[in-house]
Amino acid sequence: MRNVILISEEENLKKPVVLEVKNLTKVFSNGRVAVNNISFSVSAGEIFGFLGANGAGKSTAIKMITGLSKITEGSVKICGKSIKTQFEEAIKNVGGIVETPEMYKHMSGMTNLKYYASLYSHIKGSRIREVVKLVGMENRINEKVGKYSLGMKQRVGIAQAILHSPKLLILDEPTNGLDPNGIKEMREFLKDLAHKENIAILISSHILGEMEQLCDTIGIIDNGVMLKINPIEEIRKGIESSQKIVIKVDYPNYAGKLIINQFNVPVELDNNTIIAGLPDSSIPKIVAFLISKGISIYGILQKTKSLEEVFLEMIKKHSAGTNIK
Ligand SMILES: Nc1ncnc2c1ncn2[C@@H]1O[C@H](COP(=O)(O)OP(=O)(O)O)[C@@H](O)[C@H]1O
Ligand SMILES: [Mg+2]
Repeated sequence: MRNVILISEEENLKKPVVLEVKNLTKVFSNGRVAVNNISFSVSAGEIFGFLGANGAGKSTAIKMITGLSKITEGSVKICGKSIKTQFEEAIKNVGGIVETPEMYKHMSGMTNLKYYASLYSHIKGSRIREVVKLVGMENRINEKVGKYSLGMKQRVGIAQAILHSPKLLILDEPTNGLDPNGIKEMREFLKDLAHKENIAILISSHILGEMEQLCDTIGIIDNGVMLKINPIEEIRKGIESSQKIVIKVDYPNYAGKLIINQFNVPVELDNNTIIAGLPDSSIPKIVAFLISKGISIYGILQKTKSLEEVFLEMIKKHSAGTNIK
């Protein structure tokens, strides 16, 4: 019993809020509202995905969060310190790559890291070796940066960004230009980073599938507005509950009624097909049931909404003026 309490206390201690954004707004001098009153927070060990189409306002928000662009309205706190009024204390907790990482091409990854570490007073050699390991670059770190692939450069860039053990890592579209394998590798080590180093990660992307596999929480931003903030499990559940089975039968009216009575789910009819709101896993059950009732089945299809469809629906609902909160 005592152990259980200790574990839950430890869990709580591990999850302080690292980034807190409240009512953040950016109005450019030409009057464009690029970020419109967004609020969210990211805790230690959490990967928060900022998802939105090109031009949605992700980079503008990230630039305000990192102090690179003036905040029109609202507040940003990092480890409780305001980026506006306590800039130095707030920014020392942040590591980030807002654009492609800057590195000296003629030097090795290791020399770059050592040079970067020398800009700080307290970074030991053991920490450099540790970050190299964290980003999985042990075998290639002594080669010249000029010979690295884009993915390897990104890794060393991230190693550089986390040298000073920041509490918050911010990455603006880090997978742009990476091939699928590079994306997969980055996903794995970012997860490791969040979980092993307990770093809060804010990452932006316009690719839903990529975010879905990486993030714990997804915030969808459209036209400067945060439409929805959802734990990833909820998005997955939403997709599951949107699953449908399409069955072609000889007597659709009759079969439809049987299904409604037996499974208590919505059924639509379309010519000689039935579209039942059931998950793929119930196909064997429904087939056995219909056959037992003397219905002949001529075909079965699964109809599942893709992540993209779910995403587009959310945006469409928003544009139509529906209030999603
Ligand atoms: N300096 C600027 N002046 C005026 N508008 C800008 C400026 N920078 C970006 N924008 C506009 O703000 C919107 C959001 O851009 P951005 O934050 O770069 O989007 P994202 O990173 O999501 O692709 C876009 O409409 C863009 O054209
Ligand atoms: Mg951008």
